[in-house]
Parts: sequence; structure tokens; C-alpha cells
Amino acid sequence: MKFIIANWKMNKTVHESLDFVKKVSRAKTRHKVVICPPFTSLNSLASALKGTNMLLGAQNMFHQDSGPYTGEISPSMLKSIGCDYVILGHSERRIHFQENNEMICLKVKAAQRHGLVPILCVGETLSERRNGNTFDAVARQLSLCLSSVKGPNILVAYEPVWAIGTGNNATPEQASEVHSFIKLQLKKRFGKDIPVIYGGSVSPSTIKSFLSEKSIDGVLVGSASLETGTFLKLI
Ligand code: 13P
Repeated sequence: MKFIIANWKMNKTVHESLDFVKKVSRAKTRHKVVICPPFTSLNSLASALKGTNMLLGAQNMFHQDSGPYTGEISPSMLKSIGCDYVILGHSERRIHFQENNEMICLKVKAAQRHGLVPILCVGETLSERRNGNTFDAVARQLSLCLSSVKGPNILVAYEPVWAIGTGNNATPEQASEVHSFIKLQLKKRFGKDIPVIYGGSVSPSTIKSFLSEKSIDGVLVGSASLETGTFLKLI
């Protein structure tokens, strides 16, 4: 069993989300499938996914429980509608919304406090890779985002920034090398094996090569998770 997690990003209305789930929710799979739609579709999908073997995740949240934070969504709101997972620290949030490791760390802790499993995203930029700084960059993100995080109830997504939405995926060997490094850091930190999944231009034609790597516990898929036919091939 590996994780196949769909990150729909800013795509699909409620109607489109429900239509998608109606078409795929009875599909058989031996994997753990999690769908992360936009906030507006979460509540409807929570009902639509009941009784299926697919789980629900959000794409972001704020770290406070409630209060004067216009436009934000709290972990308890997510938990109360039946979310199990939440993606945190995605590079698109770091790039477009100036999220930094310290903010992400607060979110990781808040998610865990509320019984949500954080899917913490880390990954190097193209220039970091070209300069031979991949491991340093990833180690730094891990160390800062997990600072004083106690519980091992977490998933880490290795998403090289240069591979996201580019069609230019890391090779399974490149991913595997970084996964092994991340797994070692996490084992030292938590004394336990933590799942590490890969994200970045995963498609039906490449998914098998990723999932057959021992150090890759699953995939986090963006664009290939948006269309029912492609998604069914993935799962
Ligand atoms: P793509 O699969 O579209 O490259 O997106 C990956 C991603 O960002 C998943 O979180």
C-alpha cells in the first residue's frame, strides 16, 4: 500500500468536484487515496466520500484556532468537516504567499494538535540543485519546519520545485536519493519510519517507476489528478 494524494490546487467548482468523485469513488485500488480539493469543495466532498475508501485533505490552513484572521481557515474547521490530512508548506505557497519555514512550523504543530496529519512539502529549487545544495536545502527546511514538533504523525512530500508543473519530473533515482536522506533525518528526529512521498510532474506513465522504489512511499500529484480518466489510471 502506498499513498496517492491528489492536490487539485485552485481547480474545480463544488459541482465539478462532486462530479469527479461520483466517477472515481468506486474504483478499486490497493493504495491509500487522498483527495485535496479547494476549501470550497471540502464540505461537499466529505459527504460524497463517506463509505468510499478515499480520504479527504485540505491544501492549507492557518495555525490559530479562531479569531480576527480575515480569509483564513483553522485546523478545527477542517477537522470538524471530516478532513484527515492537510498539505502544508507547498512551494506555491512559499513562492506566491511568502510563507516561510517558521510559519509552516506553526501550522504543522497546529495540525497535529487537532488530529490532522500534516503533509509537509520540502524541495530544492533548480539553482540549489545545480549548485549542489539539494541536501542542504532540504535539511534546512526539515529542521526549521519540524522545530519542536513532537509527534511523528506526519507525512513528508519531497517536491523539487523545478519538477512541479513543468512536465520535467525527477528521475526515480534522483527522488530515491533524496528520499533516503529525508527518511534518515526523520528517523533520527522521531525514532520512527515516517512516510515520504514524491511530487512533481507524476503522470500515469511514470507513477509505476516511482512507486516501485522502496524509499518512495507514495506520490503527490497535481495536474494528472484533475481529469477522471488520468486519475483512474494513476490509482
Ligand atoms: P504537478 O503534478 O502538476 O507537477 O504538481 C505537483 C504538485 O505540486 C503536487 O503538490
